[in-house]
Amino acid sequence: MHPVPDTVRIQGGDLRAYAAGQITVDLSICHNPYGPSPRAIEAGMRLLAESPGALAPPPYGCEEPYLDAYADRLGVPATELAAGRGVTEFLIVLARLLRGRRPAVITPDYTHTLRLFSYGAQYVPGQAVLDTDIGRLTRLRRAMASQSVVVLSNPCNPTGQCLPPGEIISICTDFPQSLMILDEEYVDLHGPGLTTVGADVDNLVVLRSTGKSYGIVGTRAGVMWTRSKELLSLVRMEMQDPWRLSLLDAVMAAAALQDEQWLEGTRNALHRDAARLEDHLRDAFGPRARLQGPDHPLHYRFVHLPNPRPVVEHLSEHGVSVRSFGDYGGHIPGIRFAAPSTDEQLATLVHALNTLPEKRAA
Ligand SMILES: Cc1ncc(COP(=O)(O)O)c(C=O)c1O
Repeated sequence: MHPVPDTVRIQGGDLRAYAAGQITVDLSICHNPYGPSPRAIEAGMRLLAESPGALAPPPYGCEEPYLDAYADRLGVPATELAAGRGVTEFLIVLARLLRGRRPAVITPDYTHTLRLFSYGAQYVPGQAVLDTDIGRLTRLRRAMASQSVVVLSNPCNPTGQCLPPGEIISICTDFPQSLMILDEEYVDLHGPGLTTVGADVDNLVVLRSTGKSYGIVGTRAGVMWTRSKELLSLVRMEMQDPWRLSLLDAVMAAAALQDEQWLEGTRNALHRDAARLEDHLRDAFGPRARLQGPDHPLHYRFVHLPNPRPVVEHLSEHGVSVRSFGDYGGHIPGIRFAAPSTDEQLATLVHALNTLPEKRAA
């Protein structure tokens, strides 16, 4: 038997540490598995077929059409946006730029965010492992009251909690001296009308990406929105190399943004998949599965387990990979399951869950 990799340490979707062919159902990454967006594929193919020469010179200015498409989509002027290589690049740049202001992170959060801002403060859930929306909002309020920069994802990776945009904006209004950096990587997959982009506040920075929602994570493109002219120009200065985005990525990602109907249809399918997943996780883990409930329709679910490793091992022996977390560095211990999107994948997972030895799920 191939040794089970320490999945606490590797990123979702990275199966390189498993034996070749061992994993048949990858539930460790939370992209839209119904993608890639058909319009993105069409646009990429068209570019390659009709204007391959466009790939030859450096793609000067190729980010403008992407910014325009995103601005259109979000209903804000393109002048309030900066383009980068996914939310990741903005997190890297902001972690460097804001170092002197000791940003705080509301935990748990995305692994890379926790790593990049590890020099700052953390607002962790209390003794209870189950975080609540009220608890997360209270920590956000406390952090905004006493820190000059606060970072969080909404919806939260890994728990799937989604704080109401109105509450987030009113916290920004209440604490204008503090800057909030809000990572909305998954907001489009949670539901429509949940973005805070365009809010009438100057102390909010929102990070968005086309990768996960449209199933094109391999294209590296995203935007940062803020009304803070000062921060926007600082970030732009940090990111001013003339061929920032890949032309092919920008073309595909801009086209994906036109695929609103497709996004809506796949979002509904994802929510249905997530509800099915949740039923099976409840059966498998009983009260030990501290799931977030029906108010959190996102396509992934977090199960709190003090020691996730035996479950992860059992699942991988049955061909299923998941993302697990230990109790350190701002994480909470447990497993994040992305929802299987086919009956076959679901059957493989359910078989693995049904054969979980009693003691392993404890
Ligand atoms: C919460 C969150 N933010 C940001 C990212 C990075 O995404 P990208 O750089 O593809 O936009 C991820 C990826 O897993 C994530 O989960």
